[in-house]
Amino acid sequence: MKGMEGRDIVAGYGKIEVLHGASVRAGQGEIVCIIGPNGSGKSTLLKSLFGLIMPREGAVLFAGRDITRLAPEEKVRLGIAFIPQGRNVFTSLTVRENLEMGGTPLDHEREVRRAIDEVLEAYPLLKDKLRYPAGNLSGGEKQLLALARADMVKPQVILMDEPSIGLAPRMIEEVYEQIKAINAKRSVTFLIVEQNARKALSIAHRGYVLDLGVTRIEDSGAELLNNEEVKKLYLGG
Ligand SMILES: Nc1ncnc2c1ncn2[C@@H]1O[C@H](COP(=O)(O)OP(=O)(O)OP(=O)(O)O)[C@@H](O)[C@H]1O
Ligand SMILES: [Mg+2]
Repeated sequence: MKGMEGRDIVAGYGKIEVLHGASVRAGQGEIVCIIGPNGSGKSTLLKSLFGLIMPREGAVLFAGRDITRLAPEEKVRLGIAFIPQGRNVFTSLTVRENLEMGGTPLDHEREVRRAIDEVLEAYPLLKDKLRYPAGNLSGGEKQLLALARADMVKPQVILMDEPSIGLAPRMIEEVYEQIKAINAKRSVTFLIVEQNARKALSIAHRGYVLDLGVTRIEDSGAELLNNEEVKKLYLGG
């Protein structure tokens, strides 16, 4: 299974422990979302899975293999991408240069060019903007570029932190349509952290509620949307 799992993760910053044993799992081709209040440790959990923070206890598994101690670059080589909160684009570089950066792990110039062509097929909105500085793009376009950049090396797992934050409703739709399309086309596994719980749960196969550093509720996206407690606390009644 090319899925990804965090098992009983304990992690934090300095003396502060933020995660007290959080567990999440996404099977291959699954879209899994993690919702929860501000400060509950959602971003910390994604960073722990990617290796930007070393878990103090627990394990990170990919395709059944323990990858807890691997550095982020090594995880990228295995096919794991991370798109942090606040869009991962270089604003002073052009859209094309951003895509080229995403293709850095590829061996040949030729492969990079082919990957750019493929990505532009899948993200037609970026086609007309190749020579623009990424800083000139709208928030939604930046998020699409961040996704396209990660997609350059065809990752098997994409970890995404708050893809919809600060976006206009139309662009939220666009970004989520793109996530669904990549998932359907290549069976890419997604672990998505979201404040916009309703939107994320509506496309997620499964979801988790993270609260005070532990994963408290786990269910299908549809069931979580119908869960009374989730509705009251995270979906605005
Ligand atoms: N670099 C850091 N150094 C110290 N404490 C941090 C750091 N990053 C986060 N924290 C603390 O860890 C806790 C969890 O933060 P985290 O960013 O994981 O929450 P979150 O669920 O992603 O919140 P949000 O919904 O606001 O993005 C918070 O109390 C935060 O202040
Ligand atoms: Mg966060």
